[in-house]
Amino acid sequence: MKGAQTWRPGSMSDLQILPGSRHRPPLKRPTWIIFFLSLVSIFLVCAYIYPPKGSAACYVFSSRGCKVLTNWLPPSPTRESSDEEIASQVVIRDILNIPTVLSEKSKIAFMFLTPSSLPFEKLWDMFFRGHEGKFSVYVHASKEKPVHVSRYFLNREIRSDEVVWGKISMVDAERRLLARALEDPDNQHFVLLSDSCVPLHSFDYVYDYLMHANMSFVDCFLDPGPHGNGRYSDHMLPEVEKKDFRKGAQWFSMKRQHALIVMADNLYYSRFRDYCKPGFDGKNCIADEHYLPTFFSMIDPGGIANWSVTHVDWSERKWHPKSYKAQDVTEGLLQNITSIDLSIHVTSEAKSVKLVQPCLWNGIKRPCYLFARKFYPETVDKLTTLLNFGL
Ligand SMILES: *[C@@H]1O[C@H](CO)[C@@H](O)[C@H](O)[C@H]1NC(C)=O
Ligand SMILES: *[C@@H]1O[C@H](CO)[C@@H](O)[C@H](O)[C@H]1NC(C)=O
Ligand SMILES: *[C@@H]1O[C@H](CO)[C@@H](O)[C@H](O)[C@H]1NC(C)=O
Repeated sequence: MKGAQTWRPGSMSDLQILPGSRHRPPLKRPTWIIFFLSLVSIFLVCAYIYPPKGSAACYVFSSRGCKVLTNWLPPSPTRESSDEEIASQVVIRDILNIPTVLSEKSKIAFMFLTPSSLPFEKLWDMFFRGHEGKFSVYVHASKEKPVHVSRYFLNREIRSDEVVWGKISMVDAERRLLARALEDPDNQHFVLLSDSCVPLHSFDYVYDYLMHANMSFVDCFLDPGPHGNGRYSDHMLPEVEKKDFRKGAQWFSMKRQHALIVMADNLYYSRFRDYCKPGFDGKNCIADEHYLPTFFSMIDPGGIANWSVTHVDWSERKWHPKSYKAQDVTEGLLQNITSIDLSIHVTSEAKSVKLVQPCLWNGIKRPCYLFARKFYPETVDKLTTLLNFGL
């Protein structure tokens, strides 16, 4: 109190004396400064209450964009993690820190999701031949017991269950395949394939590409449109926010650590099981297109490539991708697919946006695809002739 009392008279007199002592017209400049300062304060208070969202608003504040302004705003209060989230984080962190150890015995698990018989067993047989000990095959046949023509597929069926398109049963089948494939400690990379998938390269090429990649190939992009974030339901809160929601094709290829994390996850899996399904909350959410892309982009965004090594042609923009008939299968088609080195995603808004990324394999631009779909069974002989895998 004492200090304040002695200070006040002094500063009052300074204010009174100073303007007069410097021969300037009093009042004019201070009024202008006070007016200007109040304008700036109102502006900043508004900016604090309504933070700028669009880039145009950022430029009003600073030509350097939003960073400058947002840096000094206090961070929005972070939510306290639940017990489940903390448990999940520690398990995931430790699994991600397990080093990859490759040896002569390391194998790739080829996991086939099919309703029944596989029309391309003959082609796969040619692909696998001579590479025994470097791969293992798992078949999840959801409708009827397949008839096999290749010894590599004999007795490789796992216990399966019904799969309904769009429902969590599709993810359950993927997890069932992963669990069985993880039983073999030599399996280091896990590829999910469908009955209409074919290999595009020789076994050695595929083996080196997958085993020596420092990432998993999980397709993932942000689609703000109705077939992307439009399928998100607020019921997934608080663990999965709309800004975290991603989309991608289900045909993944992942490292052992990532496969283990998928096995360990119950928290995010249960949110998608309960709140991402056709018809729920007035949305048409498809669990197998959103669960893994969203999950990995949340827990290990730098560990996934964001594209799938399985090519599919959506360019006709119909409900289903292009299916190749025998007449479509030519050397030119295979050359075209195997030379693609850009990953393209198209958003589903009315004014769709095309997202183009180079396919970077360990930092090097390389062709994106090892497998392709969808091929009609009638194409098997033509494919076998065209793709002889150097035999
Ligand atoms: C994949 O996308 C995420 C953003 O969703 C990004 O953080 C990550 O770096 C991307 N991965 C690669 C390998 O570029
Ligand atoms: C291959 O790509 C070229 C260039 O895009 C195209 O003109 C041609 O029709 C394609 N060929 C086949 C068989 O798809
Ligand atoms: C993979 O390798 C590239 C090139 O060395 C590097 O830029 C990238 O960060 C690596 N990614 C991971 C997940 O280790």
